[in-house]
Amino acid sequence: MKTYLITGGAGFIGTNFIYFLFEKYKNNIRIINIDKLTYAANCNNLNDLDAEIISNGNYIFKKIDICNNTDVDCVFNEFKPDYVVNFAAESHVDRSIHDPSQFILTNICGVQVLLEASVKYKVKRFHQVSTDEVYGSLGDSGFFTEESPLEPHSPYSASKASADLICQSYFHTYKMPVTISRCTNNYGPYQHEEKFIPLMVCNILKGIKLPIYGDGLNVRDWIYVKDHCSAIDKIINEGTDGEVYNVGSNNETTNLEMVEFLMDAIKSVLPDEDPRRCFVNHELITFIEDRKGHDRRYAIDASKIKMKLGWSPNMTFEKGIIETVKWYINNTQCI
Ligand SMILES: NC(=O)c1ccc[n+]([C@@H]2O[C@H](COP(=O)([O-])OP(=O)(O)OC[C@H]3O[C@@H](n4cnc5c(N)ncnc54)[C@H](O)[C@@H]3O)[C@@H](O)[C@H]2O)c1
Repeated sequence: MKTYLITGGAGFIGTNFIYFLFEKYKNNIRIINIDKLTYAANCNNLNDLDAEIISNGNYIFKKIDICNNTDVDCVFNEFKPDYVVNFAAESHVDRSIHDPSQFILTNICGVQVLLEASVKYKVKRFHQVSTDEVYGSLGDSGFFTEESPLEPHSPYSASKASADLICQSYFHTYKMPVTISRCTNNYGPYQHEEKFIPLMVCNILKGIKLPIYGDGLNVRDWIYVKDHCSAIDKIINEGTDGEVYNVGSNNETTNLEMVEFLMDAIKSVLPDEDPRRCFVNHELITFIEDRKGHDRRYAIDASKIKMKLGWSPNMTFEKGIIETVKWYINNTQCI
């Protein structure tokens, strides 16, 4: 039975990845989830795991900071993971602008601690979950490929780019079987309410203002979180050691367009008699001072993972947005 050590599994993508793995491999795998449980984590996210999976010891949670060498060594020693998948990170760009220090610690130093233990305990695959933000910003046309230069602009993206380079150095220096995925913006269930889509959905449902940076025309390229999970699974199993894979599903929207999509989705999901329908109103949109160093456009060329590994996304943007809106209506305090 393969053992996965997943870091940050109580956060947005980590939670989705754990559900994805158990859905695909059932109780033929063991997952050790280590998470510091920062403000971004939600311990209840994984409450819907099968009781049998928990009672059989196929899922184990440990509250651990990835920067803590001793605790990390202990967990590797106890469980001898085959695969390490690193989702643990400080992930909010605005917070990194306000105070970069914790971003440097977790996103850079924490990765080095995990790599060190992975070398010591001969892990078979170390997968680093990275971001398209390491490439910086695009103009009106073009796409980021794996060969695009690293030009991060925020402390968050700079910390992720640093981690990517450290991972690659462990591949070259210690022959650590590292892979890296650089994914576009994810949407789907279990995301913290401070992030764009949950924030917009919840504010619309409460009838409160929708803060939009600058002119609202910054472009983001969106992927349904489960498609990101299937890409990571593919890379872990079939990826080439030392390689980077871009992951995206060609859904570029401006922030203003995304608000339109969300409003339409909310209207189509709420029953006619639901009083919250009257909140769905463009007057909620409020332009606020632009984020410092705000990247204008991200767009990913994912042809390498498609051609080399045969991966492709499954979810259409229209269906994914409806599913996401339904989930936030049913599972959060937007009521
Ligand atoms: N959300 C996106 O759209 C997106 C896109 C591309 C890449 N990524 C990357 O994917 C990863 C996961 O992102 P997310 O959106 O799920 O983030 P998140 O903020 O929702 O979750 C991060 C998790 O990491 C945990 N964590 C933070 N510091 C830790 C530490 N020192 N030790 C152990 N655990 C710690 C938190 O408690 C939380 O559970 C991140 O590395 C992020 O850079 C995210």
